[in-house]
Amino acid sequence: MLIAGNWKMYKGPAEAADFCLRLRDTELEGVDVVVCPPFVSLAVAVQLLAGTEIAVAAQNVHWEVEGAYTGEVSAPMLRELGVYGAIVGHSERRQYFGESDETTATRARSALAAGLCVIARVGETEEERERGETENVLRRQVAFLEADDNLVVAYEPVWAIGTGKTATPEIAQEAHGFLKSLLDVPILYGGSVKPENAAELLSQPAVDGALVGGASLELDSFVAICRTAASL
Ligand code: PGA
Repeated sequence: MLIAGNWKMYKGPAEAADFCLRLRDTELEGVDVVVCPPFVSLAVAVQLLAGTEIAVAAQNVHWEVEGAYTGEVSAPMLRELGVYGAIVGHSERRQYFGESDETTATRARSALAAGLCVIARVGETEEERERGETENVLRRQVAFLEADDNLVVAYEPVWAIGTGKTATPEIAQEAHGFLKSLLDVPILYGGSVKPENAAELLSQPAVDGALVGGASLELDSFVAICRTAASL
């Protein structure tokens, strides 16, 4: 079971250091844990979590090794820092920064080739679900990805991200089962995962972990979710 905390644009280096120091001193057995700080806080997180089982991943990664791509960071640069992986294709990247299935796949491919682990996020919008298009959307998004030992998919329905509206365990199980029939990789659920709903979501057979946003920002709630995962 893998629990990844996506900090989004929260926690600069000082706050990240404080969180990592406390996380480092927390007993976390039987679960794989990853934190995904903003770029500027990756170095301190890598440094403070070195020698622990907790991994550090970026929230995005460019497909080129280097070049004239203002504002971007490449996979070799992340590797140099000791970063273990990267999220690609988050719905906020798609919504606000023009990311597409193609750019997501290109980022994923280059990151995997450079030796990073990748969490590729997929998921339908509320309108797509209401129109009965969920499976078509997931099929299209996953078609751009290739199975890889270092690839994990995160199913995050857009309508559940940051809204407090979690998918029911049945919806998550159905979507994960469908995704697994298309691509044989571990699938995380994401979208308003909290300590209160983690057990029912994580106990679904096709749910291999969670990508946690809001609830990963507080140590107590993040640790509670990690411990729930460890207990299942
Ligand atoms: P949330 O975010 O847990 O705050 O809904 C999840 C995510 O965006 O990865």
